[in-house]
Amino acid sequence: MTTTQPVPGDRYRPLAFRGWQPTSAGEIDFAFDGAIARIALGPDGSVRLRAALGDELPPDPHEALGRAAWRSAAGELRENDDATLTLWHEGPLGSVRVDIRPDPLTLGIGDRHGEPIAMLGGLHFDARGGARIKQMLGPGERVFGFGEQHGGLDKRGQRLLLRTRDPALTPRGAMYVAIPFYLVHRSDEATASSHGVLLDSFGAARFDVGATRPDRLVLETDGDGLDLIVFPGPTPADVIARFTGRVGRTPRPPLWALGHHQSRWSYANETQVRRVAEELRERGIPTDAIHLDIDYMDGYRVFTWHPKRFPAPAQLAEEMRRQGFRLVAIVDPGVKKDPDYEVYREGLTRDHFCTDRNDRVTTLRVWPGDSVLPDFNRAEVRAWWSEQHRALLDAGVSGIWNDMNEPAGWKSDLRLGRVMLPYRQQDLSAMQQAPPAAPELRVAHERVRNLYGYQECRATRAALENAHPDERPFVLSRSGYAGIQRFAAIWTGDNLARWPHLRESIPMLLNLSLSGVAFCGADIGGFALSCTPELYARWIQLGAFYPFARTHSMWAKKRQEPWRFGPEIEAIAKAALEFRMALMPHLYGLFCESERSGAPVWRPLFYEFPGDAEAAKIEDQFMLGSELMVAPVVTRGARERRVYLPEGRWFAWGDDAQYLGPRWIRVAAPLDSIPLFARAGAIVPMRGAVRHAGEIPDPPLRLEIFPEAEGFARLVEDDGLSLAYQRGGEATRDVRLRAHAAGRLRLEIGRREGDFPIEPRRSQLRFHACPRPQRVLFDGEELGAPAQGAAHCTWSGGHLIVAFEDRGDGAVVEIESGA
Ligand code: GLC
Repeated sequence: MTTTQPVPGDRYRPLAFRGWQPTSAGEIDFAFDGAIARIALGPDGSVRLRAALGDELPPDPHEALGRAAWRSAAGELRENDDATLTLWHEGPLGSVRVDIRPDPLTLGIGDRHGEPIAMLGGLHFDARGGARIKQMLGPGERVFGFGEQHGGLDKRGQRLLLRTRDPALTPRGAMYVAIPFYLVHRSDEATASSHGVLLDSFGAARFDVGATRPDRLVLETDGDGLDLIVFPGPTPADVIARFTGRVGRTPRPPLWALGHHQSRWSYANETQVRRVAEELRERGIPTDAIHLDIDYMDGYRVFTWHPKRFPAPAQLAEEMRRQGFRLVAIVDPGVKKDPDYEVYREGLTRDHFCTDRNDRVTTLRVWPGDSVLPDFNRAEVRAWWSEQHRALLDAGVSGIWNDMNEPAGWKSDLRLGRVMLPYRQQDLSAMQQAPPAAPELRVAHERVRNLYGYQECRATRAALENAHPDERPFVLSRSGYAGIQRFAAIWTGDNLARWPHLRESIPMLLNLSLSGVAFCGADIGGFALSCTPELYARWIQLGAFYPFARTHSMWAKKRQEPWRFGPEIEAIAKAALEFRMALMPHLYGLFCESERSGAPVWRPLFYEFPGDAEAAKIEDQFMLGSELMVAPVVTRGARERRVYLPEGRWFAWGDDAQYLGPRWIRVAAPLDSIPLFARAGAIVPMRGAVRHAGEIPDPPLRLEIFPEAEGFARLVEDDGLSLAYQRGGEATRDVRLRAHAAGRLRLEIGRREGDFPIEPRRSQLRFHACPRPQRVLFDGEELGAPAQGAAHCTWSGGHLIVAFEDRGDGAVVEIESGA
């Protein structure tokens, strides 16, 4: 696959090979005429390839990114007779073997049994230090990930530019978020396997995913050589565990942030905020947060309050808090260029803003007019930015929403006469990222552009941590880079209230999820253009399952609160959000799992069924964890849909109809319903619906049990707000289901582990598709109807409900139905 000959007209060319040598750290260095490359193995079986012009690699960027340092595993090296090398590592965390041809440099990565994983080669450089490499793609391989992208789930056949950009409603080209990570998956049953590749490039990176030649994936950078890591599987879950082990995982969010967020550009004064809060509560529509868009500020000056519109923000926040609402305030990076404005003056005096090549502070136009940009790559600028948040956090704002942080800017003023003008994106290529005082440290903006939002969110998260050291922060961001999940949730920016955007939110969020961002969502109802009642109904039904669920909309359109579409749609929205609140123990458990292993909350079907080739094609259904599958309606007028059920037995949520997969079925989907399925063996923790995180649900816990030979669930409970869980302040319980032949079912609830107390309460177990039982035993004692002791059971319509006094102790339930 490699050539040593330059191709006429191609800016990238190969460099002559000079020799190789092992390093003391167990890596191998390869010298070229004017360039160097290094291959290192990680303890988890990952393979890192770095290459750069010159005779030294640039410093490892982990400190600049706040990541753990890379540790190379001691690899074993063998020189083969045919001048090739074999480097391998076997360890408890992973094993890998790399067959290396030094000239031209080619890497054949395989597992310890010699099964191939990935083949890379064709290393080229351009004169400015950009690099290119190619990866072979096998016929059955699909390519997923790349963070936030338009264009469907499988990226094979596409050309992608990863460079953070405000696409301004165009459904093409680079997006707000740039995560240069992809997952290659082959799903033939016998040899199903996955691996992942991160191209750790902070400037623009281009990927030709088999578009030019179907059997080649070509990766290109514009500078700084190449830093690439291949993460072996074999399952998608293994790949993502390794990838997130490198770039970081989603910390457990506060419970309130998993509730519904109601937003609008803008709730522009205190009265509007109060009114929307009042209506939400009066109508019983579950909501935990209200967002304040740009109009809360004084002339769009960040960290200020508009004196007339928001004269008493602390009082407002306090009132909201009493009603169970948190306030989330938007913060844009653009600081208004205004000599009378403290943040601008101070930032200028301290050299905190980005400058151009001539040491002039770079100006761009955003909401406040001419604005300047803090240089978030510097730690002291981040610390200063964190401090500014006092103005918001002291007033009682609970979460921060970082927008426009690609960074976005325009040449015409968008707000002129409140009419959208066509505009061109600001050309920021001349911008530098270092203080005038340290010219030798300067980096051109383009080389680190993709980190701008990432570093801003890092500062924002620190602001919340400083203000409330024992609370979990909530930060929402529009832009980000690989690992952004450590600091912020991502929403997918400005979408349209149109059916294709509803449909597309599924593959977009699935690819973001596969790229490490577990906490993600799209604007429910669409941001721009007016939403129709039917579209809103379908969107909120789906959005109630988004990991991050926010209704947001632009000013120039019909209002988008749930009651704006008439009583029928309001009832649908209410029911959808109530279901989310009832499902919270399951959702929360998935976030806890994601924090531990990197596993996404939203998963494409192939993630759970890696050997199912049909499942790998599905992009309008998704798994919510490994137990539930959602098949939303995303087509106008549709009142039924086809659903693919992978292998196993499935229960339709609601009527418990059972189906045996793999097969396609057609299900009814009237406007007030969204098809949902539970895998047999599922134990889904739920609770009574509440209107916000602060309310006490009734029942506090109910396990929905879908009988099968075996089932397992881990229940996690904690205070939902503080960091006490990191010090043992959580309660986990393992629940196991076993069905024996002849109608006998046994459920074992393990004893609580951890220090979080479970106050005595009435919990419930609901066994689905259960014939009328002859005997139900609870800890060996036979149960009867209500009022006969601490535990009791009732049976009706094929459901058996066991209610019991739950103190977090272990319990065993046995059901004999004599069937
Ligand atoms: C951007 C954001 C949008 C926000 C608007 C005004 O377009 O993407 O969510 O409402 O700016 O702040």
